[in-house]
Amino acid sequence: MHQRRILVAVTGGIAAYKIPEVVRVFRRADQVVRCIMTSAATEFVTPLVLQTLTGEPVRTALLDPAEEGEIDHIDLADWAELLVVAPATANSLAKLAHGLADDLVSAVALATRAPVLVAPAMNVNMWNHPATRANLETLIERGVRIVGPGEGELACGWLGAGRMSEPAEIAAAAELLLASKSLADEVVLVTAGGTREPVDAVRFLGNRSSGKMGFAVAGEAARRGARVVLVAGPSAVETPPGVERVNVESALEMRDAVRSVWSEATVAIMAAAVADFRPAQALDRKIRKEDLAPDAGLTLELVRNPDILAEISKDRGSRIVVGFAAESHDVIDSAIRKLERKGCDLLVANDVSREASGFDSDTNAVIFVWPGGEIEELPTLPKTDVAAQLVDRVEKLREARR
Ligand code: C5P
Repeated sequence: MHQRRILVAVTGGIAAYKIPEVVRVFRRADQVVRCIMTSAATEFVTPLVLQTLTGEPVRTALLDPAEEGEIDHIDLADWAELLVVAPATANSLAKLAHGLADDLVSAVALATRAPVLVAPAMNVNMWNHPATRANLETLIERGVRIVGPGEGELACGWLGAGRMSEPAEIAAAAELLLASKSLADEVVLVTAGGTREPVDAVRFLGNRSSGKMGFAVAGEAARRGARVVLVAGPSAVETPPGVERVNVESALEMRDAVRSVWSEATVAIMAAAVADFRPAQALDRKIRKEDLAPDAGLTLELVRNPDILAEISKDRGSRIVVGFAAESHDVIDSAIRKLERKGCDLLVANDVSREASGFDSDTNAVIFVWPGGEIEELPTLPKTDVAAQLVDRVEKLREARR
């Protein structure tokens, strides 16, 4: 992300003590940051701390001739490419929702045309109060983005929702708002992770897919402004900001979830490692070895799962469909055959026998295989970079169709 101008508005809650860290995360990413504060905020963190970390003067008062002389509040509002209100107290949310402008923060928030991100932080009962709920709804309807709050131990001693999001989460949400919106008109369906095919009440057949590749693709598409629905098999990976996640377990559940978003999708990127077979019968009780003869083995009968990618490719209309292929040998030849068989627009092949590539790795070495047999081989890259390259190709396909 190139250098952007972020205005951080600090209002008066205890979570203000985390704002110096928020500022540092932005500065480390080479952003230009200015801070403004309500007078209550200055009780929790001093302007000098924020001035030192941003390298810019901090404003705290609306009607201060010296401060207005340096940069007036309208120029500040115009200067910002993004306004981040953090922490946003119940009082400041109310002011934002109702368009008050009786202090510097609320006046700037009313005057700016930049996108606004708020990170609420308050007592759980204030958060749950119908007044706060209504204010939030007003803000969301108006396009204000909300990050958090998280749940947990609150400074006031209560437990529940109201903790301000961590600085890294606030920065990730800010990055999302600042990124280019090249996919703003797209609804991107991504499948990710492996499936679990039930054997009995407690067992399943699964595979070693971590979901990292598909989650990275989903995050990248969301950063570029797409609405992203991520249909995910069990995965420990965190949902990327801005992504709608639908959790599934088996291939059949994955197919149902894919079908239910299919009518809205304009792009499908199928990164899931779907089990090709499932047990013919999933017992709803646990198979007990005591119920079998002492030395008896156990034979499971498997039946084929539907090929979700092949099914949707047939019914794709103007959608762009991308498949993945994890191969351990004959990578390119089998990828070319797979592309034809599945009928997709692009196939991402990876050689899982290579080191630092494929299942559970943070990096991946992929080959883009195009209809007609054209091949693009990428070096080993972090999965996030592979995702960016892949989404670039999707954008090119979209351009070519226009
Ligand atoms: O046939 P194979 O499993 O190698 O194909 C991989 C591609 O097909 C991946 O994009 C995967 O998500 C998709 N697939 C699917 N449904 C299956 C099997 C694979 O959508 N039952």
